[in-house]
Amino acid sequence: MSDSSKILDGRKVANEIKDEIATEVEQLKSRNGKVPHLAAILVGDDGASHTYVNNKIKACKRVGFEYTLLNFPGTISESKLMTEIDRINNDEDIDGLIVQLPLPDHISAAKVTEKILPEKDVDGFTNQNYGRITSKNPGLMPATPYGMVELLKRYKVEIKGAHCVMVGNSRTVGAPMSTIMAYHEFATVTVCHIHTKDLANHTKQADILIVAAGKPELITADMIKDGAVVVDVGITRIDADNEKGYELKGDVKFDEVSQKAKLITPVPGGVGPMTIASLLLNTLKAYKNRIAAI
Ligand code: GUN
Repeated sequence: MSDSSKILDGRKVANEIKDEIATEVEQLKSRNGKVPHLAAILVGDDGASHTYVNNKIKACKRVGFEYTLLNFPGTISESKLMTEIDRINNDEDIDGLIVQLPLPDHISAAKVTEKILPEKDVDGFTNQNYGRITSKNPGLMPATPYGMVELLKRYKVEIKGAHCVMVGNSRTVGAPMSTIMAYHEFATVTVCHIHTKDLANHTKQADILIVAAGKPELITADMIKDGAVVVDVGITRIDADNEKGYELKGDVKFDEVSQKAKLITPVPGGVGPMTIASLLLNTLKAYKNRIAAI
């Protein structure tokens, strides 16, 4: 097992952020008579999605946010879902909206995501918020990348000038994270993906290695350099002979990579809680923007 001084403890940092938010919410409540309000849409009965959304609701309760959970059957039509999003967009009491992904095959995640009003898009998934990453005045930042940068900063990881290798070029994690690291944080960034030749040749160069490939245990100890900082975004349920019937695996082979890494995120308890903390921070920002606009 690894040494706890090597752990980038997302759960601990997320709890610190939640305490900070809860204190602010108390003040906002007495000043404005209203607390931030997050709405979450969950479609179908995917077990992992239920767990993630429940964790988001639990986090709202913990910081004193109001929340609304809308659970629709997997058979809901795309147009009905779009109407529901419109309704929430127009609900003046709601500050933030997330639609948990993945969605059933007959619904376009891109279309649904784009329907969310950018001012309420606390996942930071819309084209407008994505484009504003490279603005002097960013909108709502994509939650997972925002959380990872915050985690690195709270552990005082030197990002400026570091070589950051991003494994994964997804719209929600890899692409925005590589942009944020280069544009805002001045890292030197290499982006690897499914078509990258000789992946290990790149990952071995990383001072900071971020992995969001969705491939359990893709990264082994021989693929990193001594003293690298490793951030694992992957979280896959693997069938297991235990009470739950599954275990969670990251994209990094934790037991061996943690021997060589300087700092490493665990799975679970690393990036996941930080995504939720970012979601709360974005909801707080959306609320403040709305109050300021009234
Ligand atoms: N599915 C997996 N991760 C996420 C996330 O961060 N936000 C949403 N909305 N769905 C997800």
